[in-house]
Amino acid sequence: MKRKISLILLTVLLISLFAFSVTGCQSYREFPGSGKEKGSVDLTLKFDEQGKFKILQMTDIQFIDYIDDESIAVMDATIEYAKPDLIVVTGDQISPEYLGGQSGKAKKICGQISGYFDSKEIPWTLCFGNHDGAMSVLSKADMLKEYQKSAYFVGGLEENKYCESYINEKEDTYCNYFLPIYSNDGNSVEYGVFVMDCATSLGSPYKGFTQGQIDFYNAMSKKYGVKMSMYTHEPTEEFQTMYDNRENSEIVSVFKGEIESPEVGKTYYPTKNPESNEAFRNSMIANKNIDGIFVGHDHLSNFAGIYNMAEDYSVVLGYGRMSSYGFGEWKYFMFSSSKRKLYKNYPRGGRVVEVSANGDYSTFDVLDSKDGNYTMTSINEVIK
Ligand SMILES: [Fe+2]
Repeated sequence: MKRKISLILLTVLLISLFAFSVTGCQSYREFPGSGKEKGSVDLTLKFDEQGKFKILQMTDIQFIDYIDDESIAVMDATIEYAKPDLIVVTGDQISPEYLGGQSGKAKKICGQISGYFDSKEIPWTLCFGNHDGAMSVLSKADMLKEYQKSAYFVGGLEENKYCESYINEKEDTYCNYFLPIYSNDGNSVEYGVFVMDCATSLGSPYKGFTQGQIDFYNAMSKKYGVKMSMYTHEPTEEFQTMYDNRENSEIVSVFKGEIESPEVGKTYYPTKNPESNEAFRNSMIANKNIDGIFVGHDHLSNFAGIYNMAEDYSVVLGYGRMSSYGFGEWKYFMFSSSKRKLYKNYPRGGRVVEVSANGDYSTFDVLDSKDGNYTMTSINEVIK
């Protein structure tokens, strides 16, 4: 009986997948972008005259077709509200496993995303999530070729003067970047934005940061000697530790936000991928230079807090807010009506981090107030 039910469910899923992959080009949109030539824009990142630098994290936009109007509206509103100096997109830009192997379509979607962010004329960068490289529909190098066409993209396959990078194809890790933030006069590097890539892991477990990535972090720590904010896709082990200890003020001095549960009576929990982050954590504790780690992946988690990781070292850990309506998975693949409803209505937005040259550090969650006009609001500020 169980087998029969599984077969029926599998058939329904396959029919949905097929229907989805052959339909739905109804409002495909090209973004003209900034019109600026690659290399013509100065992408040097600097503190402003007030000594502030603002980073907007957008995450899990997960497009598999045209970028729908609702997503464009909420993404536009988020960027307009945050007015960031830099946008970091933290993975799962696309979900190619739903494309039936159409690499041309995957390339087109990456091109749309690149054109969209280019049109904002704000420096932006990204890392990959566990979905981007799924089923090898499009190689990560080919995706980066699309993203780096944007004159405002910081990073990419070639060396450039705006960031340091580490690429290791064998380890499936491409977007490891250190972006130096300069003083307002441009004379010295005062801060850093550190991006760590995530390997594809739909069919197999994610193995976590590689030794090569950890070595890159240690090398950047040594070379620049500045504090930094870190962005990656998968929540590290510490997110679960912080969540478990959220009521213990000695371990977690501030905790704001939540994990929305789509099913009544069922508690959702932060992902821990991989089981241990010990090697990277040891390096963090030795360097004590990461102010905050910001992740995506768990679409309905939006909490942030201060985790006292060692006796003399605290770190802000925060989830980015899901930034788009993606491919509207609730319409196609969610069979629980409460889950569908929550996904449809969950306010999209982003997460802002404000860094000050004097050492002040804060983060808050930006979200759509759902008034029908994409009026954005901010909640749950965490001040370090
Ligand atoms: Fe993910």
